[in-house]
Amino acid sequence: TYVVTDACIKCKYTDCVEVCPVDCFYEGEVMLVINPSECIDCGVCEPECPAEAILPDTEEGTEKWLELNTKYSAEWPNITEAKDPPADADEHKGEDGKMDKYFT
Ligand code: SF4
Ligand code: F3S
Repeated sequence: TYVVTDACIKCKYTDCVEVCPVDCFYEGEVMLVINPSECIDCGVCEPECPAEAILPDTEEGTEKWLELNTKYSAEWPNITEAKDPPADADEHKGEDGKMDKYFT
């Protein structure tokens, strides 16, 4: 599976949603997550994210993101259409420590 990491927080560009063939993105207040049991591992979303927030779970250090994606994709609503990112999305792109600062 692929997973969304904290780089998505406060950015939410939603380009990923537009390209996913199986609509497996779920939307929280500050970020999106992927449902790992629905993701077919096609990889098309990874290069589409302007924040480089999406990684394959084969990458080192992604265990905690896999856990977070699994947990919240079961709780948050499905998002199937792209929408405008927050007005200050670009200011939060690449910012450090977003999980501690903004995740609710
Ligand atoms: Fe969707 Fe493919 Fe990305 Fe998985 S890897 S979330 S199936 S676009
Ligand atoms: Fe987030 Fe990137 Fe999608 S910022 S909403 S994972 S395009």
